[in-house]
Amino acid sequence: MPISTVNTSAFEGQKPGTSGLRKKVGVFKQPHYLENFIQSTFNALGDCEGKTLVVGGDGRYYNQTAIQIILKMAAANGFSHIWVGQNGILSTPAASCVIRKYQAFGGLILSASHNPAGIDGDFGIKFNTSNGGPAPESITNQIYQQTTEISQYRISNAADIALHKLGLQNLGDMTVEVIDSVVDYTELMASIFDFPAIKALLTSGDFSMRFDAMHAVTGPYAIEILEKRLGAPAGTVINGIPLPDFGGGHPDPNLTYAEQLVTELFSDDAPDFGAASDGDGDRNMILGKQFFVTPSDSLAILAANAQHIPAYKSGITGIARSMPTSQAADRVAEKLGIEAHETPTGWKFFGNLLDANRVTLCGEESFGTGSNHIREKDGLWAVLFWLNILAVKQQSVAELVNLHWQQFGRNYYTRHDYEGVPTEQAEALIQHLQTQLSTLPKKQFAERTVSYADNFSYHDPIDNSVSEKQGIRIGFEGGDRIIYRLSGTGTEGATLRVYIESYEDRPARLNQDTQTALSELIDLANQLAKIVELTGRTAPTVIT
Ligand code: G1P
Ligand code: ZN
Repeated sequence: MPISTVNTSAFEGQKPGTSGLRKKVGVFKQPHYLENFIQSTFNALGDCEGKTLVVGGDGRYYNQTAIQIILKMAAANGFSHIWVGQNGILSTPAASCVIRKYQAFGGLILSASHNPAGIDGDFGIKFNTSNGGPAPESITNQIYQQTTEISQYRISNAADIALHKLGLQNLGDMTVEVIDSVVDYTELMASIFDFPAIKALLTSGDFSMRFDAMHAVTGPYAIEILEKRLGAPAGTVINGIPLPDFGGGHPDPNLTYAEQLVTELFSDDAPDFGAASDGDGDRNMILGKQFFVTPSDSLAILAANAQHIPAYKSGITGIARSMPTSQAADRVAEKLGIEAHETPTGWKFFGNLLDANRVTLCGEESFGTGSNHIREKDGLWAVLFWLNILAVKQQSVAELVNLHWQQFGRNYYTRHDYEGVPTEQAEALIQHLQTQLSTLPKKQFAERTVSYADNFSYHDPIDNSVSEKQGIRIGFEGGDRIIYRLSGTGTEGATLRVYIESYEDRPARLNQDTQTALSELIDLANQLAKIVELTGRTAPTVIT
């Protein structure tokens, strides 16, 4: 089959961010744009001859078109075998699972996670390595370097692959294997959790749940696992059919965007348990009857109860959390006598710790939790973990969380996002904080004293790499913290994220409203960064 070598020139800004390259669909659709990035990725990987790849995405607009291009480029670059999800569908955790199961050289995952989809929405692509996890910065930096130098790409002139047809097809000398999108992942979940116990809970008649797939990729996975395998009644999964524009919604499972689920779970006759996942299936939100579990608490509670899960019953080796995630999990690690790690934002920083078996569970405040079963965060896995614990303990979500707070104390926690801030203003604000850092330690603000102030720098204990400037941290004596960082996943202007945390262990103060409990610290965070003065914003766009 003839192969074309196409002349091209570099595009600016093809730098992978927190989670791959994310841009507006219109940017990706420019002639050569996607091709340049794919060729640069292959160039960064070196010799691709005979190598294997997994390819799949969250089904958003442009998914299948991009996959056809990628397959033809993979063939032209010498790859020998590609596993691709049927109709181009693989949730991010399923892609990680498949890479590991078939021992692929790596994978290309097409997703912009929870960012809106459709012709005017976002698109994204990232490369995962053979451990199933997002490529580390050493590789993403090389990919970026290649994007600045590229002058040619290679593509096969073969016909499109029939992506709906399971089984083997040829593309030149390369084999494309279209695989069922759900089977391998379902099998993995069944090997981790006590499916019979969860099934008994879901079919007992006195437990009800709702799962909101938000018209995104988790629908088919959730229907297969929750309804078909575990016996939950049909209709348990809502918005279960993935749509190319995610139904016009913003599939980010939080209190703002998962509105339909939140309204139901906070109604008078709410189900006992509610959960949602995001565009590509790696995030989760956990709700009880009129009860919201923060992702930071969720990580701590999963860790504290891991012994009830078949796959973790012999113990977990350690817990890692991203730097802005609350310190609740650290207290559990301390009690269990296991390692606790603080990493920069982004799942890629957990990979080395997981591979070295230094940690078993990982989590981020941004509704991401996962374990060593794959190398991505995993939305449905977290939901099944919760259901397994509830099945064993026969407690409500609220009881379980309250008992946890009584034992470990509560880390009140909130994140305030200011979206669409002009980039110069956002950078000036970070600069303004940066200049204060050296003068802040020992300073007193009402009854709080600053114990440290820095721009977080992470030293990876496994490969000794150093990642600098990962966010401004202001820590107070007693453990309260304010953190500021700019998002690395947005596609318009800058998003300033302010993370605020305060620890409380006095029994009478464990059940306050979060924003009220944190109000003083929130005011201080606004003052220190001069948010109103420097951005003109008087309120955050999203509070989680
Ligand atoms: C956000 C989250 C981060 C997560 C990433 C990818 O990145 O904050 O925890 O890993 O999305 O899902 P950010 O936009 O903050 O760079
Ligand atoms: Zn996601």
